[in-house]
Amino acid sequence: MKTASPFRELDPTPDRVRVWFDGVPLALPRGDNLAAALLAAGVGVFRRTPASGAPRAPYCMMGACFDCLVAVDGVVRQACMLAVEDGQRIARPDRLDNGDGEE
Ligand code: FES
Repeated sequence: MKTASPFRELDPTPDRVRVWFDGVPLALPRGDNLAAALLAAGVGVFRRTPASGAPRAPYCMMGACFDCLVAVDGVVRQACMLAVEDGQRIARPDRLDNGDGEE
């Protein structure tokens, strides 16, 4: 879900590429840190915990906390360890189709 973001991009005129987050198209700065770019675009929930369903979002921004997990082109990765690339299909891991017909 998109929310108003307190995060801002540093470059006012970046080279933008199209990506999709849970099916919603976004124009993000090419090469920027993916977690930072999603936060600046207003993405506030990256995943939900398996036990309670509590919402999680990037915390450490250095690959330690795993709260930024997203599926990029079907592979669960840490968004803070990736760069924005053209055409990325990003999804919350809990929304991946596991093949049993249910989300
Ligand atoms: S924000 Fe902590 S691992 Fe990515």
